[in-house]
Amino acid sequence: ISNEADIVNQIEKLKKEKNAIILGHFYISPELQDISDFLGDSLALARKAQETEADIIVFLGVHFMGETAKILNPNKKVIIPDLNAGCSLAESAPKEAFAAFKAKYPDHQVISYINCTADIKTLTDVVVTSSNARQIVDSFPQDTKLIFAPDKNLGNYMNSVTGRDMVLWDGACMVHEKYSLEKIIKMMDDHKDAKFIAHPECEQPVLLVADFVGSTTALLNYVKSSEVSKFIIATESGILHQMSKECPDKILIPAPSIDSTCGCNDCTFMKLNTLPKLYNALKFEQPEIILSEETIEQSKSPILRMLELSK
Ligand code: 13P
Ligand code: SF4
Repeated sequence: ISNEADIVNQIEKLKKEKNAIILGHFYISPELQDISDFLGDSLALARKAQETEADIIVFLGVHFMGETAKILNPNKKVIIPDLNAGCSLAESAPKEAFAAFKAKYPDHQVISYINCTADIKTLTDVVVTSSNARQIVDSFPQDTKLIFAPDKNLGNYMNSVTGRDMVLWDGACMVHEKYSLEKIIKMMDDHKDAKFIAHPECEQPVLLVADFVGSTTALLNYVKSSEVSKFIIATESGILHQMSKECPDKILIPAPSIDSTCGCNDCTFMKLNTLPKLYNALKFEQPEIILSEETIEQSKSPILRMLELSK
């Protein structure tokens, strides 16, 4: 197929023929966002995966998102365009090392950020996303001992807003830990009329100077509902596409990274999703997310518990 319009037409056709749904995260590239049937943050995508009546789920995001969709739909085919679309946070917590860490705190319950492997979810009491983490942490009695994994930045932020002292696993997102506080402060000074908004995967010093902290959907809603017209945004650059589509008159400035030449505001994993790969994935119905029955069985309850607690 020679051009983008043809590929898009073919994808639409295959989608109908196969009763497939395309679920996309805000960090994928604009042309993929525009072809998605549903676009959302991690929580909304998990909910949509739980509700869908499609036979095939094509997940435009990263591997752990596909796994979550599969865990919620063991009898459906879940495909992602590139199996190499991982996540630095998920990779920071290998199962054996995490099991050993957990064993050191036998009286603790485990809260895991959804950005972890299905294996880690099998060792988890409840899963959270950045949009319901506070609500779910607050649902535990104050004296419950808790481990939070794998994102130390979201965990640290949760400790600060809830007054808890959760034990943190030492993981981080390679995109969100690259913001430069120094350059952000300088930019805020140069644009005094702008609000600085950040994702909670950013490091604590960056979050401390933010006017608003939230998940991708929360950041999008903040930009939409705010009376201010200029924003400095510390999260993956893909979200700027939806922000500019929904707020064409607002000025959106990506927050600066430590090394502005490294393209650090892009998640290289998310950007492994492309139109040609999506076409092939739909046509050949692979690569498919495959999980053992045992893993599905053990990782399902902490996800269902999250969906129940954040209704
Ligand atoms: P949310 O869209 O849930 O805020 O998650 C951000 C993220 O890093 C996904 O990988
Ligand atoms: Fe993982 Fe960070 Fe990419 Fe999200 S942006 S998928 S947390 S590496």
